Amino acid sequence: MGKVVLSYSGGLDTTVCIPLLKEKYGFEEVITVTVDIGQPEGDVIEAEERGRKYADKHYTVDAKNEFVKSLFMLIKANGDYEGYVLGTSIARPIIAEKTVEIAKKENADAIAHGCTGKGNDQLRFENIYLQYGFKVVAPMRELNLTREWEIEYAKEKGIDIKVTKDKPWSIDENLWSRSVEGGKLEDPSYLPPEEIFSWTVSPEKAPDEAEFVTIGFEEGVPVSIDGEKMDGLTLIKKLNEIGGKHGVGRVDMMEDRVLGLKARENYEHPSATILITAHRDLEKLVLSRREIRFKKFVEEEWAELVYYGLTNDPLFDALNAFIDKTQERVTGWVKMKLYKGTAQPVARFSEFALYSEELTSFDTTAIDQRKAEGYSVFHGLQGRLYREIMRRLGK
Ligand code: ARG
Repeated sequence: MGKVVLSYSGGLDTTVCIPLLKEKYGFEEVITVTVDIGQPEGDVIEAEERGRKYADKHYTVDAKNEFVKSLFMLIKANGDYEGYVLGTSIARPIIAEKTVEIAKKENADAIAHGCTGKGNDQLRFENIYLQYGFKVVAPMRELNLTREWEIEYAKEKGIDIKVTKDKPWSIDENLWSRSVEGGKLEDPSYLPPEEIFSWTVSPEKAPDEAEFVTIGFEEGVPVSIDGEKMDGLTLIKKLNEIGGKHGVGRVDMMEDRVLGLKARENYEHPSATILITAHRDLEKLVLSRREIRFKKFVEEEWAELVYYGLTNDPLFDALNAFIDKTQERVTGWVKMKLYKGTAQPVARFSEFALYSEELTSFDTTAIDQRKAEGYSVFHGLQGRLYREIMRRLGK
């Protein structure tokens, strides 16, 4: 059967895939590809070690900078699907593209992934693999495997993986977010135990003193913290740390998967919460009310395309073009207050502000207030007519 390239995280599912691809599918050579998108460094190293140990050949590809580029677009789009900041979703096409590059280089016969047939990731990966004409192999889905079975099988194959039956969390982590699902969390009425969190402290344990951070934006993209310029990777990492200390960015939610299954998800993403909240605030200062209202529809569509793994749809390019146009004036800064699990904008500034203190202030006379009287005569006219007619007709 030849060669297969496997998108490899180093976790249980994908590691179990390695022997399965040989035993059950008859591949002679399994090549693992781990894409570094800012997951904890230890995970990348561990994946590399395991890849070298269990597969025939291993590649680690650094895609952190490309990932940051996608995240910048996500920030401009206030990326949000049902309250989820799309961390896993937006990383998948990049991982898939990188895997395809290796598959082409290696002249592979197929590409495999370790996704189940119940989630979104299978769709996101395969959309890209198929785009390049690769045959897809999905052992988890095709063999209808359960995590219990995998844990047993791994043991049997001498694969050392930390997952145990009482801590069977399925974790997906990258620069933008950490998601935890599975195990007892699958019961939506079960309270998440503190042990599932690793980026954030619980708000109760956060400092009693608030911390303020000022985020500088240029054309919708965050470029500085407290006036200090830095690259996106450093900036996002730094805010994860600062926000995590204050318990910012924990989300426990029900989510509608593409297939229609509802899933209970726990997320941690301090940086995402801080940056999107700040970015939205700045937009409120500089965009017109019609721009903001229309952009909301665009954002909803944008987020759905990302969630569904359909970023190769021409609509995605068109939406991005619209979003980029709106961001030309989203330059300025927002001061955020981090306190016991919350991140609130408390001050903001932009040269492009569509705000005039001169006009709006209680204390100025730049506008003659009496002019509003004429406006007021017409405002609500139809509603008043309607009420009057109904009263007259006794309805
Ligand atoms: N529900 C999210 C998504 O579909 C995250 C899934 C993450 N996977 C995991 N094994 N924790 O994008």
